[in-house]
Amino acid sequence: MTTTAHDPGAPSADNPGRADIRARTLRRDRWWLAPLVNALGLMTFVVYATIRSFWGSAYYVADYHYLSPFYSPCFSASCVPGSSHFGTFLPEFPPWIPLALLSLPFLLGFRLTCYYYRKSYYRAFWMSPPACAVSEPHGKYTGETRFPLILQNAHRYFFYMAFLISLINTYDMVVAFQSDAPDGSARFGIGLGNVILLVNVIGLWLYTLSCHSCRHITGGRLKHFSRHPVRYKVWTGVSALNTRHMLFAWITIGTLILTDLYIMLVASGTISDLRIVN
Ligand code: FES
Repeated sequence: MTTTAHDPGAPSADNPGRADIRARTLRRDRWWLAPLVNALGLMTFVVYATIRSFWGSAYYVADYHYLSPFYSPCFSASCVPGSSHFGTFLPEFPPWIPLALLSLPFLLGFRLTCYYYRKSYYRAFWMSPPACAVSEPHGKYTGETRFPLILQNAHRYFFYMAFLISLINTYDMVVAFQSDAPDGSARFGIGLGNVILLVNVIGLWLYTLSCHSCRHITGGRLKHFSRHPVRYKVWTGVSALNTRHMLFAWITIGTLILTDLYIMLVASGTISDLRIVN
């Protein structure tokens, strides 16, 4: 009796449109490295941001008006004096409610539904698929056509809120250039905290403006760019930023942690702010 050798390039009996390849992947490079690094990076951010959001202290440096982005805007009567740049129209919160209750869900939603992060966590956690040309463990693929993943389509609405919160973060950053003089009056000052806040705000704007939804809002659904020269110009700029969206996504994870960590250390008295101009 003779047997026929299996031809890995032949069409699959189960799926005639695809080659019948039994191996999970034919890749020989370290394809697993990127999803692993992504998983570790995202986990670090989620754990840090969750802990700090519920920490409830060491988020504001009164002397230099440094406010952590994880606590901005602070609208509760529980916010430490000076940290509420837009008033305290919400009552006191119990310790298990984050003080930035109004902004955190939108920021979380903005990042969770971000096109880049989707790719990143679908690969890192869902393994759907873990990498190009590596088969996924799931039997079927329904995409983002049904609950809960259909909610990813809300990304553009999270973009509007994230844009507003970036404006608020910018205001916080500008206010922090005013520090308290020994006699209690306000004066201009620059410390390392200002530099860190500024870098963070620049990163947040680069990330927000390079968003795919921003690109669509500025130049999408136009039939004739020549009739909309201003929108075309803006769209061209946003498109240029958009090519680096992944980079800005990771940079802002780093700057958000760095900014909050620095403010926490100064606010708790662990270190002193390095003053450049008093
Ligand atoms: Fe990433 Fe919009 S696509 S923030």
